[in-house]
Amino acid sequence: MRPFLLLLVFLLARPAFCQPTTTDTRNLLPVPTTVRWGTGMLGWKVVLRPRLQGPADTITAAAVARTLKRLNRQAPATARDAATLPLQISYGKVGRPELFDEERYSLRVTPTGVTIDAPTTLGVLHALATLEQLPQPDGRHSALPEVDIQDQPRFAWRGLLIDVARHFMPVSVIKRNLDAMAATKLNVLHWHLSDDQGFRVESRALPRLHEVSGQYYTQAQVREVLRYAAARGIRVLPEFDVPGHTIAWQAAYPQLASGDTLYKTVYQSWRLANVAFDPTKETTYQLLDTLFGEMTALFPDPYFHIGGDENDGRQWRGNPRIMAFAKAKKMLKPDGKTLDKHALQTYFNRRVLSILTKYNKQMVGWDEILGPGLPKDAVIQSWRGKKGLYDAAKAGNRAILSNGYYLDLYLSAANAYGTDPLPVDNPLNVAQQRLIRGGEATMWSEFADSVIVDSRIWPRAAAVAERLWSARDVNNTPDMYRRLAAVSRQLEGLGLQHRSAPEQLLRQLAGPTDVVALRTLVQVLEPVKEYKRHFQGFTYTPSTPLNRLVDAAPAESDVARNFNCRVDSLMEATVALAGRGSVFTMVPGRRNALAMRQQLQAWQANHSRLIPLLAASPTLTEYAPLSAALSAAAALGLERLALLEKQQKPDAEWQATALKQLDALNKPAGQTELAVLPVIRRLVELR
Ligand code: ACM
Repeated sequence: MRPFLLLLVFLLARPAFCQPTTTDTRNLLPVPTTVRWGTGMLGWKVVLRPRLQGPADTITAAAVARTLKRLNRQAPATARDAATLPLQISYGKVGRPELFDEERYSLRVTPTGVTIDAPTTLGVLHALATLEQLPQPDGRHSALPEVDIQDQPRFAWRGLLIDVARHFMPVSVIKRNLDAMAATKLNVLHWHLSDDQGFRVESRALPRLHEVSGQYYTQAQVREVLRYAAARGIRVLPEFDVPGHTIAWQAAYPQLASGDTLYKTVYQSWRLANVAFDPTKETTYQLLDTLFGEMTALFPDPYFHIGGDENDGRQWRGNPRIMAFAKAKKMLKPDGKTLDKHALQTYFNRRVLSILTKYNKQMVGWDEILGPGLPKDAVIQSWRGKKGLYDAAKAGNRAILSNGYYLDLYLSAANAYGTDPLPVDNPLNVAQQRLIRGGEATMWSEFADSVIVDSRIWPRAAAVAERLWSARDVNNTPDMYRRLAAVSRQLEGLGLQHRSAPEQLLRQLAGPTDVVALRTLVQVLEPVKEYKRHFQGFTYTPSTPLNRLVDAAPAESDVARNFNCRVDSLMEATVALAGRGSVFTMVPGRRNALAMRQQLQAWQANHSRLIPLLAASPTLTEYAPLSAALSAAAALGLERLALLEKQQKPDAEWQATALKQLDALNKPAGQTELAVLPVIRRLVELR
């Protein structure tokens, strides 16, 4: 009996990696500063009647109405004998997100009603978002649990960048993403409005900019989005990326160009172009002044993002007139010949900064703009690493973090969640730490069109939202995943299409065939990570339709992660026994083993079910090797599991061969990889 006893003791004493064990967070995401749960419930036979106390504010009144409508949707239609209780909302003043007004709030649910208290209406909006995450099952219905919450954000700048230049995103897409942002307490929409592939805002002063780009927002639509965001306490930070990433501008106004290439259309490629404006011509600044004069009036936020990334200076070096200018201005390296690109770009930045200052805006730029000569009031957005973030703060500039939060790279929510702008061991002193204002998740859209973009943003962006709102020590990853699933359901209710759009694409791919086998495969696929999708034998352009299996594949496979958790619990038990000098073979928990066996059997059998569809559909054929690999890997997993259940150690030779086979199966196809392969490998590897 001894080994069983040890195993039991171990499992009780140290819960498996995937078991959330924290304070009681229920479905709240981000986790509030303090939460004290009571024992009572406000049942479904309660109707909340709002009473607002504070300066009249239509935004707050509308937000309260939206929240009550959503809460009521969870109640049965015929709660006739419902009691009416107050939803008492008190606030000091109307909050303005662009002024970084206070966001803290308190929210109390007691048997006599619901009370919200906040210094500003921004806090009220957050309290309402929290209130919407409170309902929990109570018998057949849902109810509000008794609770006392005090909450405030750790960082004031919590953003989501949406790139509408690479793929245009209609207003409806932006609006529903603003709803999701509000639900997770993100407060900055960073709108990446121009790039090589398009300039997406109507300019009345320089109309060729939007005309050459085809799809764009009219100024009326921009104002509509601004109103929608403001109604949710969200700032809108416009980005017009200069001097690089500007082929669309050059197609409209060729006089901006540094190089010889004349672009007649916006860029039809995803390759890094390395074009740049001519920084030596006064006409360049005159045009920027005209445009920024118009755009700074359109966008009320006090900040204005000028990009500044990824200009390697090759066009400047290749232009004799620009080189002569640089020489005259002493912008050459010590060798007296080579261009000091940074010096010239800093000159450009300073000229742009003086335009923005004239229009009363503070400049934000990517970390490339940091360097000697950059004025202190510029804000740095760090994308290449944490170094830019900390260097900015050490130089006295405010900074926000995006490195680690790149949603387009298909990294896990855990990866983003583990990225803290200010970890305990950060290299900054207290004054410098105060300059770190927060961060932004980024959704670059080379591989996301308006149909699937929600699925590339959510629910992973919610992990970033929590990292930026909640305390540093709120970092239990399994608990985050548990709540992420709840938020994902909540967002579906708000109209987000992160689940429905990939499912619809699957149905389209399956045609008249049953979609189940295809779904089983796609659920364990992930797109190849980071920038690999550009380099896997398939050249994407802006006009490539995003309607292949890779586009339906989740950025992070829940099925693979859950299976990984099951393997984890086996491994932890093994380690525990080994750690006690024991040589007993570990026995998997019976329920766990059964679930694993069923899963592996389903994967093993899936390929033969899928073959007819894979063979019949030209767009699916390229995924056949992955389907076959899933089946073969599952067979090996089943062999190992059978031994575990019989308490037999695997034969060393069998194991070596199996691992070699698994490694041979590990080949991407159709820009996807089998997310479950490394997981099955871990199972096979168990001694
Ligand atoms: C960037 O990703 N080039 C800012």
